[in-house]
Amino acid sequence: MVSPGTAVVVSDAIPNPGFPPERPRVTDLDPKKATGQERRITLMFFVSILASVFAVAAYIAFPITPGDMGSVRISNLLLGLGIAIALLAIGYGAVHWSKALMSGHDLVEMRHETRGSDETRARAAEIFRLGNEESGFSRRVVMRNTMIGALIASILPAIVVFRDLAPRQDPVQLLKHTVWKKNTRLTRDPEGTPIKASDVTLGSVFHVIPEGLNELTDRLEEKAKAAVLLVRLDPSELHESPERRNWSYDGIVAYSKICTHVGCPVALYEQHTHHLLCPCHQSQFDISHEARVIFGPAKRPLPQLPITVDDEGYLVAQSDFHEPVGPSFWERSL
Ligand code: FES
Repeated sequence: MVSPGTAVVVSDAIPNPGFPPERPRVTDLDPKKATGQERRITLMFFVSILASVFAVAAYIAFPITPGDMGSVRISNLLLGLGIAIALLAIGYGAVHWSKALMSGHDLVEMRHETRGSDETRARAAEIFRLGNEESGFSRRVVMRNTMIGALIASILPAIVVFRDLAPRQDPVQLLKHTVWKKNTRLTRDPEGTPIKASDVTLGSVFHVIPEGLNELTDRLEEKAKAAVLLVRLDPSELHESPERRNWSYDGIVAYSKICTHVGCPVALYEQHTHHLLCPCHQSQFDISHEARVIFGPAKRPLPQLPITVDDEGYLVAQSDFHEPVGPSFWERSL
C-alpha cells in the first residue's frame, strides 16, 4: 500500500502495453466476403442517389400552398425524409467501406517540424499512393463512382430548395408595388374592419392592412409589403414638404411599417416625441418630419402612403406608395 505523500513514478509502475495483437477481418481472409461487402456498400450509394431524387421529386410533386399548413407539413416531411436517407446512406456506405475494406493497420506517428524533409514528403506521397491502393479507390471503379454520384446527387435537393427561395420577379418591382391603390380602404390589422378618420384620436396608433387583403391567396407576402402604421398628430406639429401637403388628412399620416434598414416591422411609437423605433437595430424615424431617420443604421425615411377620406368618412389610400418599401438595398438598382 502507498502511504499519502509518497511519489509514484507511473511510467515505471505501468509498462506501455503497446497495441493489442491485430485480428484479421473476414474480408481480409476471404475475397468473396470482401466482394459481398463491396456490393452492399455500392447498394447504399445507390439508395442515397434514389433518396436525393425522391426528395427533389417530392418537393416538386407536393408544392406548398400558401396558408395551407397541411401542404407545408407533407412537403417538409417528404423533403426531410429524402435528404435524411440520402445523407445517412452516404455515411453508412463510407464508414462501412473504411471499416470492412480499407487497410486496418495500427500506426504510431512521431511529431515532426511543420515542414517535413524531402524524404518525409516523398514518404507522404508514397503513403497516399499506398492508401489509394489499399482502399481500392482507383481499382473499385463502380463503387467509387456510385459514391461520387451519391455525393453529387445529395446536393441536388439543396439546389432545388434554395433556388425557390429567390424571387422569380425583379425584386425591385416586387417591392415597388403593393396592393394599395386609389380608394383602397385602410382597415385594422388583423380584423380587417375599416377605419373612420374620426376613430383616430390624437396620439393614437393603428396597425393597418389594405381592405380585401385577407381574401388574397398570397396574403402573407402581400401583407409583408403593405403593412402600414397610422398615426394622428396635431396638424400644427406636422412638417410636410409642399408636394406632400395633401398626403395626410387632418393630421393623420400613414407610413410603411417595414423598416428601411433590413425590413423588420417598425412598431414602437413614442407619442411625446413622435418617434417610431425599430426594435431590431434601433433605427428611429421622426413622424412629424416625414419619417426621416434621426438615429440608427436605416438610410432613408419610411415610405409614406398618401391618404384621404371617402364619402362615408372612411380613410382610403390615394394611390400606392411612391417608392419601394423595405430595405434601401433594393432601391439602389432603380
Ligand atoms: S431592421 Fe430596423 S433598424 Fe435594422
